[in-house]
This record gives sequence, structure tokens and C-alpha cells, in this order.
Amino acid sequence: MTVIKTTDKDRLDFESGINELKEYFASLGARKGRALTYNVLTYGCQLNESDSEKLSGMLMSMGLVQSKGGELDDADVIVFNTCSIRENADRHLFGNLGAFKTLKKKDRDVIIAVCGCMMKVPENVARIKKSYPYVDLVFDPQQLHRFPVLLRDAIRDKKQLVNITADDYIAEDSFFPIDRKRKFRALVPIMYGCNNFCSYCIVPYARGRERSRDFDEIVRELGDLAKKGYKEVMLLGQNVNSYRGGDGKSFADILRAASDFESFSRVRFMSSHPKDLSDEVIDIMASRPNVEKHLHLAMQSGSDKVLKDMNRPYTIGRFLEIADNFRKKVDGGSLTTDIIVGFPGETEEDFADTLKAVEKARFDAAFTFQYSARPGTKAAAFPDQIPQDIVTERFGRLTEITNRLAEESNSRLVGRTMEVLIEGISKAGDRTFSGRTITNHLVNFTIPEELGIDPGPDMLEGRLCEVRIDRARPYSVDGELVRLKGD
Ligand code: 5AD
Ligand code: SF4
Repeated sequence: MTVIKTTDKDRLDFESGINELKEYFASLGARKGRALTYNVLTYGCQLNESDSEKLSGMLMSMGLVQSKGGELDDADVIVFNTCSIRENADRHLFGNLGAFKTLKKKDRDVIIAVCGCMMKVPENVARIKKSYPYVDLVFDPQQLHRFPVLLRDAIRDKKQLVNITADDYIAEDSFFPIDRKRKFRALVPIMYGCNNFCSYCIVPYARGRERSRDFDEIVRELGDLAKKGYKEVMLLGQNVNSYRGGDGKSFADILRAASDFESFSRVRFMSSHPKDLSDEVIDIMASRPNVEKHLHLAMQSGSDKVLKDMNRPYTIGRFLEIADNFRKKVDGGSLTTDIIVGFPGETEEDFADTLKAVEKARFDAAFTFQYSARPGTKAAAFPDQIPQDIVTERFGRLTEITNRLAEESNSRLVGRTMEVLIEGISKAGDRTFSGRTITNHLVNFTIPEELGIDPGPDMLEGRLCEVRIDRARPYSVDGELVRLKGD
């Protein structure tokens, strides 16, 4: 496997792909007498969200507009950006693909493309080839920059095009038109892939080996985002702390460079591996006001034996030391984690160690997963797979504790007035807004009438404000606006 950087030729191919498709869709639209639309369906993590912003950007450059209907099939080009980690993503995909058979019969011009991590699992690709011949294009996440070329070829040749590569491409963000979904938040991948091969995880197979973007390119992109008025940047990678740019540049250098742009109210990052998190990064989190006071550090298990079987090279003692160090240095900081329940061979004792470790680390929130075997990973072939009823029972016990800890974490905010970056109207109701503290706590708040602020739905997005917190819920807190900042 080799890492291939995009070249001038790729750029030319990309542009001619876009231009040819623009012509094609323009004439198809003229024939149909309406604007053509696209729908990109995104499953999984923020890296997929970032990829989808690029897919949308490319489709827009081809002259398509985003479909408004909200129905899956209400578009002329439908792209599934799949995930192989989240539960049930595969059932969603194949269920939906099945339903599209009638749509394709009704309108032969509709295009269906499938990409994302699931396409790096050969069984999934074989299933599409065999049972869903009307899918037009199948490609893998490493080849995002080749999407216009592949789509053009699939349309031209009028037969299913499956293009999965074993190479690890790296295309800088500047390669793409990007349709950023949030007005205030920019997702900025700084590296791709993963070298860790945790024994349960499909990511190293799906996303290839670690490769870092060019440091100067990232800083240039950050400068551009600051100029455009973005208030929050989210630095992304499977394992951001192992970023290695040219000239020995590390993740700490990226974090400093991002926080140097004072117009960013929040610099966030995801995810960190305990083995790579440096003290330097924790010190930056403590000292720089616009770097989030929130660390997402996956623990996975509290048992040294299970961690070893998972190929996670740290002990639970070491993990708790890092957690302690973070709590000591980053005043009021929040610590969140991922935990897997029911890994092969997990005994009741191992699980009890996980519960103990969760209490000790006092996580502010935890993403909890029931272990599920992923074909192609080492753990899928381990003996001692745990029966589902035991997994479900343990999962219930774990989430009871993590939910309580999350509510306690929220309760500690009650009575305080906190700075909140407004994300928009809350799901709770149309006069309620939502946003996040710098510790990543979710805040829903109302605006008292006497303040005389009557914002339109999007007016406040990206603004900083102060909110008095008056109530804790399991996953959020409620409050009232005290004042908008920057007026
Ligand atoms: N089963 C259950 N959870 C998994 N994760 C990754 N692979 C699996 C799997 N096979 C979880 C890990 C990881 C998070 C993103 O998903 O906890 O940190
Ligand atoms: Fe998967 Fe482990 Fe890499 Fe995370 S660090 S992406 S869990 S292999």
C-alpha cells in the first residue's frame, strides 16, 4: 500500500469531470424542464460528515441543487456515504437500496452512488454487485477526489462501475469545493487513516494507513476560514495526536496555530488515543482561552487483560493517570470517552473493572457500544464471543452509571453563568435556542422578553452569549440568556 498525493493531472481530470457532468446535467434538466437535485445521506462519524460536505460541494459544482423534500428518493443523484462502525448502518443501506429498485425503473436517469467505509469490506461490495445491479457507482473513501471522474464514467458507460483501490490517497482540502453545512462551524480534517489496529476495529482497513495533511496547507485553510467568519473549527482525525507534518510539526503545533486566530471562539478536536496524547497538548488546552476544555479520550475497557486483547497499548492505571492530569491542569474541563461492552473473553470481573474505572474517571459523558464482530478484524475470529443476553445486561448496568455521571456533570453547572456558542434553534421548541459551553456541555436556553431581542431563526448562530444555567437534565442543561456578547 502506498500513499499517493494528488497531482496536477488529478486536478485536470477532476475539472474536466465536473465540466462534462455540468453539461450533461444541464441538458438532462432542460429535457425534464426542472432543476436537478442531489441528496447525500451521511452515516457515522464527523470524518464522514466532512467527506459529505465535499461530495455536496462537488455535486453543486455540477449544477445540482440540494433536494428539499427530505424523502430519501426525492433526488436525481443519491449518494450513500456509509459507515461500518455504527450499529445497523448496513441494514439501513441495504434496506434503502432495495427500495430504490422501483424508483430506478420509473426514472432511468436517477443515479445511485455508494461510498464510505462499508465499501472497504469486500462482502458488502459483492452483495451490491450481486443483488443491486441498478446501483450506478461504488467507490471507497480514499478516492473522494476521483468522484467526478468516476461518476462521469458510470453515466457514460451506462453500467455499474465499482472502483475500490488498495492505495491511500491524500488530497488537500483545497482540492475540493466544500459545501459547509454549518454557518459557524468548519470541519477540518488534519490527517486520515489509522495505524493502531485495535483488534475490534475496521477503520484501519477502511481508511488505510495514517497520513497527515501538509502543515502550511492546514494553516492556510484555517486563515481562510477565519477570514470568512467561521467561529468554530473542529480539527479531525482518527487519532489527531499522531499528526506528523513536515519539519517535525506535531498536533500541538496545529492546535497553537489554530488558536492563534483570535476570531475563532472555539478550537475543538476529535479523537485522541491515550498512547499519543502529550502533556504539551494538555498544557495548550489549559492556557489558551479559545481551545476547548474538553477531551474525548477513548478508554474502551477498564480491564488490563481486555485492553491487551483489544491491542490498546496502555494499562487502566496509565489511563486514569492521564485523566487525573487533565482534571488537575484544565480547570473545570470535561472528559468524555468511548466504551465497548462484551468484547470477546470479557469476564464478569473484567466488566466490574470497567465499572470501577468509569467511577474513578468521573466521565462527563460516555459513548457506550455493544461489541459487534466486524468481518476482517482480528477479534471477529476470537474464541469466547459473549452471548447477546449477557452483553445487553452489562450494557444496561454500564449506561445506568454513565447516565448518572452525565447528569451529575450537568448539575455542577446549575447556578452558574456560562459562555455559550449559539448553534441555532433548539429541537425543544421554536423559541428555545441551543449551544455549547467551551466544555462541550449542551445548553438549551430561552430569551427573556425584557431583553428586547427578537432574533430570526438563524440570526444568532455562531454568536457568543452568556446564559444563566438553572436546571440539569441527563444530556443537557436549561437556562436563560443573560446577554449577547459582542454587541
Ligand atoms: N464493536 C463495538 N464498538 C466499536 N467501536 C469500534 N469498533 C467497534 C466494534 N466492532 C467503537 C469504539 C470506538 C468508537 C468510535 O466505536 O469504542 O472508539
Ligand atoms: Fe479504530 Fe483503534 Fe484506530 Fe480508533 S485507534 S480508529 S478504535 S483502530
